[in-house]
Amino acid sequence: MQKQQIRKGFSKLNKDQKIDLTASYFENPEEAARELKSYWHSKPDIQKKLDEFAENTISNFFFPYGIAPNFVINGNMYLVPMVIEESSVIAAASNAAKFWSERGGFHAEVLSMTKIGQVHFVWEGDKEKLNAVMPNIKEKLIRETDSITENMRERGGGILDIELIDMTDKIDNYFQLRASFETIDSMGANFINSCLEEFGQQLKRFLKEDDRFKGQEEECEIIMAILSNYTPDCLVKTWVECDIEEFSEIDRNLSATQFTEKFKRAVRIAQEDEYRATTHNKGVMNGIDAVVLATGNDFRAIEACAHTYAARNGKYTSLTDVKIENGRFRYELSVPLALGTVGGLTSLHPLARFSLELLNKPGAEQLMMIAATVGLANNFSAIKSLTTKGIQVGHMKMHLYNILNHIGVTKEEKDEAVDYFQDKKVSFSNVKELVASLRKRNS
Ligand code: MEV
Repeated sequence: MQKQQIRKGFSKLNKDQKIDLTASYFENPEEAARELKSYWHSKPDIQKKLDEFAENTISNFFFPYGIAPNFVINGNMYLVPMVIEESSVIAAASNAAKFWSERGGFHAEVLSMTKIGQVHFVWEGDKEKLNAVMPNIKEKLIRETDSITENMRERGGGILDIELIDMTDKIDNYFQLRASFETIDSMGANFINSCLEEFGQQLKRFLKEDDRFKGQEEECEIIMAILSNYTPDCLVKTWVECDIEEFSEIDRNLSATQFTEKFKRAVRIAQEDEYRATTHNKGVMNGIDAVVLATGNDFRAIEACAHTYAARNGKYTSLTDVKIENGRFRYELSVPLALGTVGGLTSLHPLARFSLELLNKPGAEQLMMIAATVGLANNFSAIKSLTTKGIQVGHMKMHLYNILNHIGVTKEEKDEAVDYFQDKKVSFSNVKELVASLRKRNS
């Protein structure tokens, strides 16, 4: 084991050297290095691609890639790829998909596709004057980014608008250029950031060259230029609806009306209480993140945005809403999802490409509808379980596999354990005890 010390120049080492150095932190460095290498892809060209996604790559970290079948969305049937390490999530999505496939399927609609970027700057001078020249600044910024936006404009996208936002009441001399963009099927981060950096340079130039600005007014300090991951106008809505009577067999102890009222109350709780809202929305994100990952999109951006949106009215609340009216149940999710189906990892990562092909090569709008729908499906299943039998029954069944794998059992032991725990409580100690007794019996 090596002493903890600052390592200079790690990034300059080659891959083998990085592995050796990392492995030297283990008691058995040869074994540690072997383990890291055992997760390499068997095809060197694919491994090279994976290596190049990020810096200092020494191995791959595997997550399960599973399928949730039977998703009917706007009348189209999908097998949805999901990347998730948590047991029960794919099962929950699949259950909801099957349930709703027999009740008209899911409905989804993209409400808007606009993305936002900001140039944050500090400027001291006559605000009225700055406001008055904004049309000229905007015209210059659009013109000077022509070469950056050309391709995007050919695809039907580009810069939609640029506004000046006065924030001087919050921070001395602080303004923003807030720009909106249409990036069609790409998430558009690189495109937006390139435009914004150029906006910053051109704004500086404008203030220097325009005769109306004198002395200190000719200078502005660009603090930063970057897209915003908050995209409330890149919004998708997905919903399900059916007659309340469809729930008559959902639970032995609840009538259809009792179930839907209990379901509604559970959602109302998430709307009022942020502790519950966070967990409720986490259940939504279980489904969304899994699709986002499987399609090579940026799940951190999606997460950050969803939670800001959930707090858009100044209080963190549920992303879903339920209505029970005239004997009908309607459950709905609205969430901003800035997803892409071209560019980024979507075509570089072999399984992301595979996922998109499986989904019939969707555009960004379709992918937004699919991901949101899986989020609603997961949340619907969670609330259904929580308000009826609880989630631990299902969870623990899946958890059983994890415990058995952790202990390290044979196929025969696994089969016997699954059989045994069909009607018993799963806990780590119970499973360990059973495996020990099986081994004793068989020894
Ligand atoms: C677990 O990953 C997600 C749930 O906790 C969501 C919820 O409570 O609604 C089951």
